[in-house]
Amino acid sequence: MLWFKLFCLVGTLVSLSDSYKILTIYHIPTGSHYILASRLVKEIAKKGHEVTFITPYPSKMPVKNVKEIPLEGLQTLFQSATTSMFTHEDTTPIQKALFVNEIQYNFCKYFLPHEKIQNLIKSHEKFDAVILYYYLNDAMLALAHHFKAPVILFASMPLYVSESFLLSQPSPSSYVPNILTQYAGHMTFWQRLKNSFFDGFMILYYWWLMLPKHQKLVDAYIPGKPDLYKLVNNESLLLINSHASTTEALPVVPNTVEIGGFHIEDPKPLPKDLQKFLDDSANGVVLFSMGSIARSAHFPEDKRKVFIETFSKLKVNVLWKFEENVSGLPKNVKIMEWIPVSDVLAHPNVKAFITHGGLLSTTEGVHHGVPLIGIPIFGDQKMNMAVASFYEYAIQVPYTELTEENLSRAIDQALNNPKYKQNIQKRSKILRDRPLKPADNALYWIEYVIRHQGAPHLRHPGADLNWFQRNLLDVAAFVAIVTFLPILVLIVLFKKCAKSTVKRKKD
Ligand SMILES: *[C@@H]1O[C@H](CO)[C@@H](O)[C@H](O)[C@H]1NC(C)=O
Ligand SMILES: *[C@@H]1O[C@H](CO)[C@@H](O)[C@H](O)[C@H]1NC(C)=O
Ligand SMILES: *[C@@H]1O[C@H](CO)[C@@H](O)[C@H](O)[C@H]1NC(C)=O
Repeated sequence: MLWFKLFCLVGTLVSLSDSYKILTIYHIPTGSHYILASRLVKEIAKKGHEVTFITPYPSKMPVKNVKEIPLEGLQTLFQSATTSMFTHEDTTPIQKALFVNEIQYNFCKYFLPHEKIQNLIKSHEKFDAVILYYYLNDAMLALAHHFKAPVILFASMPLYVSESFLLSQPSPSSYVPNILTQYAGHMTFWQRLKNSFFDGFMILYYWWLMLPKHQKLVDAYIPGKPDLYKLVNNESLLLINSHASTTEALPVVPNTVEIGGFHIEDPKPLPKDLQKFLDDSANGVVLFSMGSIARSAHFPEDKRKVFIETFSKLKVNVLWKFEENVSGLPKNVKIMEWIPVSDVLAHPNVKAFITHGGLLSTTEGVHHGVPLIGIPIFGDQKMNMAVASFYEYAIQVPYTELTEENLSRAIDQALNNPKYKQNIQKRSKILRDRPLKPADNALYWIEYVIRHQGAPHLRHPGADLNWFQRNLLDVAAFVAIVTFLPILVLIVLFKKCAKSTVKRKKD
């Protein structure tokens, strides 16, 4: 009995010593993004760590080991900024960059002065690590660093250039497409030229215009007014929601870990009517969801008509995420306000997936091996779909070319051309073939960084160089000068000599 008690005591001590306090800061109020953050938090809590979770949504049920700090006001802020995303479809990457920078800055402006955040700062709570969702929200980076614990960034999109900047991640414009473009990794000369231009613009804009604005917020609301320019390059780890099966294979530094697909859980039972609809669809089902930002209900009337006309002529059924009630739908179309996309894709009758091409939906489609039809609108969607159609597991229908003819041709290809099914199933195998489940991998690295006090050994020496040193621009300038200066001097001397000779002859 005594032995048993002793054993239990030791067991408790061991588990206590392994339990960390982790602050997770997450601020994007969209359903699909929230799935990512809440899944990560759930996994961390399941391992017995104590999580403080700053979130735009309070969860419906309390989760063990999780203390939530909900900031509901973020939702209003976001909804007013993103009504009808379809109007942004034809904007240039530069306009898109300005738009997202503005949104993220406004989030920070709401976030830092918030009473709950200020109370957390004043509480002097201690954390073993801070996980921050990062996407151009640099003022929050100062909040993360405020707690003097290793900072772990968490990104939901493929690597992009200003994020690469933070970890001195190599991001050559020659083959790493800017996420706001519509290029895959293999680019033509003109695409590389434009890609370099967009990369350059975004870095300069971020560095010279946005960071000073964020610094003003930091000065006003973070004690000690830390210098953002020093902080931005001092993160311990980047967890990124990508993988070579869903995005291009890209170079990553040792403290960047790809955990793409970590949010996908084993399929859960579906609501009864949905299960019946899928079971009864013997000819197959096409799933159609534009995600949670660009809502189907915001489609202009002519586009809505294209979908309805096209679907009415199909032999297969269509399951459409639509946020309003629509009258006069064809018999083979079922609409639902919200669809558990991953669980539906797991159903064997689902044969194709019409998607906006967000990375989450793309990953879910790849995971379940269902061919994609991409109608990309915003953010990284065009790039994701460019990659997916380059590797032939998606068919793209650009929004501006969305006609009945084009859409039905794309659906026909996805359903009947075996190439797409084969390719995406190959990708699915690649996505699932990992040494560790991606969620376990994320946990391993979070704990690793804590165990090794921020793991500074993973930081490569290039991170301590200036950008022009890292890109060898100083060396190139030196070589150019050493090579051309003597030639220049010779030319000048020669000209002078020639002139004086001419002069002497005249004399
Ligand atoms: C960078 O982080 C390390 C450890 O996390 C810390 O010791 C160091 O002071 C930080 N540097 C700056 C400039 O904040
Ligand atoms: C759609 O109609 C059903 C039944 O008439 C109703 O319960 C539901 O709330 C409606 N949904 C929306 C988004 O209006
Ligand atoms: C859509 O149709 C137009 C006109 O027929 C054609 O020029 C265009 O290439 C089509 N686009 C796609 C993606 O099929």
